[in-house]
Amino acid sequence: MNIPLQHTGADARTEEQAYDDVPYQSNAFGQSQPARLAGVARLFGLNPPAIENARVLELGCASGGNLIPLAHHFPQARFVGVDLSGRQIAEGRRLIAKLGLDNIEMRHAGIESLTPADGTFDYIICHGIYSWVPAPVRDAILRVCDENLADDGVAFVSYNALPGWHFVQPVRDMMLYWTADIADPREKVKAALALLDGMKGIAENVTSGILNRELDSLSSAEVSYILHDHLEQTNTPCYLKDFVAHAQRHGLAYLSDVAFAGGNPINITPLMTAHVQQRAGTDVVRAEQYLDFLRGRRFRESLLVKESRAACIDRSQPLARLDKLHFRLVSKLMKDAAPPADMRATWWHDNTAIYRTGASVLKARSASGQMALDWVAANATDAATFSLQDILDHAAASGAPDTEIRQDITEALWDLLCTPALCLYACELRAPAPSEKPVATALARASAALDHTHTSNAFHDNVRLAAGHRRLLGMLDGHRDATELALAMGEGATAESVAADLKVLQDARILC
Ligand SMILES: C[S@@+](CC[C@H](N)C(=O)[O-])C[C@H]1O[C@@H](n2cnc3c(N)ncnc32)[C@H](O)[C@@H]1O
Repeated sequence: MNIPLQHTGADARTEEQAYDDVPYQSNAFGQSQPARLAGVARLFGLNPPAIENARVLELGCASGGNLIPLAHHFPQARFVGVDLSGRQIAEGRRLIAKLGLDNIEMRHAGIESLTPADGTFDYIICHGIYSWVPAPVRDAILRVCDENLADDGVAFVSYNALPGWHFVQPVRDMMLYWTADIADPREKVKAALALLDGMKGIAENVTSGILNRELDSLSSAEVSYILHDHLEQTNTPCYLKDFVAHAQRHGLAYLSDVAFAGGNPINITPLMTAHVQQRAGTDVVRAEQYLDFLRGRRFRESLLVKESRAACIDRSQPLARLDKLHFRLVSKLMKDAAPPADMRATWWHDNTAIYRTGASVLKARSASGQMALDWVAANATDAATFSLQDILDHAAASGAPDTEIRQDITEALWDLLCTPALCLYACELRAPAPSEKPVATALARASAALDHTHTSNAFHDNVRLAAGHRRLLGMLDGHRDATELALAMGEGATAESVAADLKVLQDARILC
């Protein structure tokens, strides 16, 4: 199927030029991994297709940093990416050729040009586009998500959200104001960065904390990110309620966001919960919208399904479906000896321990729940998914009767899942185990050979590759240990320095 390149007018042309001039840093985006989208859909009673042989479409795929790793990891699935920038598409095709993939097609085309004749897809991903394109393209995104989505499919659309963007909008406005007369995109970013540098810490008003945090985070961001995410003429954030209304006009229903529990529910105070329940009842969009108002959310990764599937969404018993899903711990879970001094409330069972992971604090509701969290803390890593059954097997081996403790263990797992530390997948995933004479994954080697600064692993995490790592990756063919690699690297490399670099690559899960 050949899709012609169509322009919708001056805006579309400008967009194409903008990304040809300064390509976007195109990375794997773990949140959009279809097995994660399927996991959330299953949690809410839907039956999405298995990723292993799914059809996946990405709208605005840039140079394929998100799509190509998926095609590599799921050789029986089929992938199509479209993007307006010919330069980025050409870059993606180079990596596809290097990997010898025959299950992916990258098309130089506008999203607007897709029609039902292009077929249906089980997963449609549109990350980082919706807020940055003019209204006709926003319409086209949701039209395609309706017309080209399979009946049981799931679409992922991310966008800048309100009210959070209201608070940081002054930083964008200030950068645009200062750089209005600069045409060269790189010079524009340089001037914007110099402006941010000079402004850091000097604002003193009620919003200065937010402004200074924004200035700080932008000062260390990639040039292409500042240019395309912050300095493009179009940047239209919206409220969840308006996004959902737009999707409904295109025959789509809101399922959830990928972070389905809104990050850490511990951050939602009982007062907030009561307020939201009173105003939203069981209406999930209203509830999420009120939470956004209260927490100032600024970005969303929303999942949509066909309106015809809306009646099948069942949010009433997600815990009962945990036994069909797979989990991955992405930050360490640590047991605290005593409740932290700054803890605002004591939850659950008086005699259970406090656990910390990242910025989240949780407490087991029962002794069995504590046993479950202990098991996760001791056994789970980011190198493989685990299941509820794994914990139940452990409990059974320690003599606990399954029926009595199953509920407690499920609740503990749910509490952990409501923190950002645990990711949910519809299928089992495992990183390869590295050997004495390590081999880099084919994807990492191909990316390094093309001098890409990023690659990805079996979980679709984004992995940054430093220049030295790119060089080392090229030598990881399974024939050398650390000492032999140091000799081959030269330039002062020692067995110790190579071992340290190998550890970084191993921790990134790109060695086998
Ligand atoms: C901010 S980048 C995001 C790229 C990628 N999805 C990501 O998140 O890394 C926006 C991308 O959308 C593409 N784009 C913009 N308008 C488009 C259109 N009308 N049709 C197809 N691609 C478009 C641009 O060329 C660019 O690659």
